[in-house]
Amino acid sequence: MARRKIVAGNWKMNKTPSETVQFLKELKPLVETDEADVILCVPSISIMAAMKETEGSNINIGAQCMYFEEKGAYTGEISPVMLEDAGVKYVIIGHSERRQYFAVTDEIVNKKTLKAFEHNIVPIICVGESLTQREQGITIEYIRQQVKIAFLGVSAEQAKRAVIAYEPIWAIGTGKVATTAQAEEVCKAIRDCIAELYDCDTAEAIRILYGGSVTVSSAPELFAEPDIDGGLVGGASLVPDFGKIVHYNK
Ligand code: 13P
Repeated sequence: MARRKIVAGNWKMNKTPSETVQFLKELKPLVETDEADVILCVPSISIMAAMKETEGSNINIGAQCMYFEEKGAYTGEISPVMLEDAGVKYVIIGHSERRQYFAVTDEIVNKKTLKAFEHNIVPIICVGESLTQREQGITIEYIRQQVKIAFLGVSAEQAKRAVIAYEPIWAIGTGKVATTAQAEEVCKAIRDCIAELYDCDTAEAIRILYGGSVTVSSAPELFAEPDIDGGLVGGASLVPDFGKIVHYNK
């Protein structure tokens, strides 16, 4: 069975709650499609307003981060229980910006991944190499390690529902998109790694996205690759053009 594409937006720390509602009103008709899952990961403070505004539409609202404990003295964090109660179905885990600025490690990514599944939230697990790692020729080795640690203790049934986003750090917010061949090479290596960890069925089911300076013009070629099941879009998800990325095959 063909995997269903995902076009996901990561707004990062952009848009106030009122800007969110205003923008979603504009965006809703532009992203209507039966052909892909559309997900927007908005700042925590806007999740509730975004869920309300997108009710009855095909936009799924996701979170950008989540802690791995259910409740307690963790000032500032939001928990999987809170997301589940709010009806949130997706959460980005291990984005390179969280790894870089907020000390998220591979082990923490694993804990969060396990917790997300426990609460029926699909993790969008981010992996990606730095420019130095690419230049040293250790990209695949490094990504395989990130994937292996992220999936420790995750069952095959859970892994089939997971989403992995390959986001080369050097391509994020730089306007420097990976070539289609570079993106496909790593996404295929990730699928092969999942096949090794689980089996071919799981590898065929899991959805792997590319992220890093995806635009209206680069999306069609990237998303046509056999192992790229869509994109995780940063900057271009903040503007109405995101609708054109959702309709990349039109
Ligand atoms: P840009 O599309 O702005 O490069 O961001 C990519 C990203 O980090 C998505 O999570």
